[in-house]
Amino acid sequence: MSEEPTKDVDSLGNIFTVAIAVCLVCSVLVSGAAVALKPQQDENKVLDRKQNVLRAAGLLPADSNTDSQGRGVEELFAQFEVRAVNLDTGEYVDSIDTTTFDPVRAAGDPELSIDLGDGEDIATIGRRENVSLVYLVEGDSGVETLVLPIRGYGLWGTLFGYLALDGDMQTIAGIGFYSHKETPGLGGEVDNPSWKAKWPGTKLMRDGEPALALVKTRSASDSVAAQYEVDALSGATFTNRGVENMVHFWTGDQGFGPYLDKLRTGA
Ligand SMILES: Cc1cc2nc3c(=O)[nH]c(=O)nc-3n(C[C@H](O)[C@H](O)[C@H](O)COP(=O)(O)O)c2cc1C
Repeated sequence: MSEEPTKDVDSLGNIFTVAIAVCLVCSVLVSGAAVALKPQQDENKVLDRKQNVLRAAGLLPADSNTDSQGRGVEELFAQFEVRAVNLDTGEYVDSIDTTTFDPVRAAGDPELSIDLGDGEDIATIGRRENVSLVYLVEGDSGVETLVLPIRGYGLWGTLFGYLALDGDMQTIAGIGFYSHKETPGLGGEVDNPSWKAKWPGTKLMRDGEPALALVKTRSASDSVAAQYEVDALSGATFTNRGVENMVHFWTGDQGFGPYLDKLRTGA
């Protein structure tokens, strides 16, 4: 009696077939999940941006998604108007969709940004977008709060954040960073609420020049210099310098300077 030849299930062909089938199923599952979750991710990004703007402006606590009166992010952010600004002219640009425009991404596109020369690039960002976004709260007397996106190099990488100004465009209302690579406990203390609480009330410009300074030793409290000073973080000279430079850059001529001048003069 002749025996039936047994099938070799471990043959090379079978192994490849099963491996390819598993790869195909997994890739369909992963790409399906990525596509299905994209709207949720986009929504979360928008929510995150709103939270960061509100936190920098001191309207939302660091550890909560509601303010002391129980108002949520959407309700609080509704008081803001988002506008696109041409950084060279300081004029508003109405042709840009502010809900989808990303200034940082624009800075990576040679057609939408400029290469900063050595002397100009005090924030060490390489390229600066031609158009950025501003977040405004307007009251009866004009702009009451303005929030500007800022970024600049610290010790280990670029810090991304927002700087909030009062209506005089001269007094800082707050600062906050939503992304950075500084060392926890050293430069990473930029996230410490008690350090951030030292910023509101500090003055920005002196005789038309950015004058804010992060200092190890404060000037006498009744001196003019003290109005422009914030306590430096200890053990973080590079981070301090980076933060100071980025504030100077973004409020200066290469940043939002032309726009801030327009708001100051009412032009
Ligand atoms: C592991 C490690 C991490 C550090 N992280 C930072 C940092 O995030 N930011 C910073 O400015 N300096 C950081 N430093 C310290 C700097 O190298 C430098 O010593 C410091 O900025 C000096 O600041 P000081 O003059 O205030 O003491 C780090 C040093 C070490 C060894």
